[in-house]
Amino acid sequence: MNVSAKIANQLACAIWFTGLSGAGKSSTANALKHRLQIEGYNPCVLDGDDVRRGLCSDLGFSKEDRVENIRRVAEVTRLMVEVGLIVIVATISPYRRERTMAREVLAPNRFVEVFVDTPLDICETRDPKGLYAKARAGELADFTGVDAPYERPDSPDIHLKPTDGSPDACGRLIFNQLMSNGLI
Ligand SMILES: Nc1ncnc2c1ncn2[C@@H]1O[C@H](COP(=O)(O)OP(=O)(O)O)[C@@H](O)[C@H]1O
Ligand SMILES: [Mg+2]
Repeated sequence: MNVSAKIANQLACAIWFTGLSGAGKSSTANALKHRLQIEGYNPCVLDGDDVRRGLCSDLGFSKEDRVENIRRVAEVTRLMVEVGLIVIVATISPYRRERTMAREVLAPNRFVEVFVDTPLDICETRDPKGLYAKARAGELADFTGVDAPYERPDSPDIHLKPTDGSPDACGRLIFNQLMSNGLI
């Protein structure tokens, strides 16, 4: 099958990354996107940080606003999957209920939950945006893992741990799993 035929025939789905800030969601989502592109697919990334700058710029980080944030991301993802894209979502999505809601908004068998299970102490050491330092100093309220909850997935479809290696290695691992499960 040539590349454009592959894109035309690709099975659309949502690959939903969840995990703490600094866990590696965005890096791994982009690595997976590149892997899919190299293999001839047509993926896109919906990143929580981007969404919060635009579509959800009116929302904060209270529980209510986080729920609304995920509801909007799930609805946009649904629209994108309906036009045939492989949508890779990278957002903390700290509440189990909202992740379940996202799965239900999409066809349950076209939704893959990826838990980027990087422990808090590692995320906090990485702290690429200095947000943990600010949260610990009391300059940033409602920060997930510090003074806002993160509900770990009970049974994620894919469970990534730091021992799985670089974002590229994780992207490859996810790609292989999507292939072997017939999702793409
Ligand atoms: N698998 C990994 N192994 C080592 N470092 C990583 C890995 N994934 C991400 N990182 C690093 O961790 C930091 C946070 O990654 P990022 O993808 O921005 O996390 P998130 O989107 O979950 O907040 C970055 O500095 C990134 O380079
Ligand atoms: Mg990110």
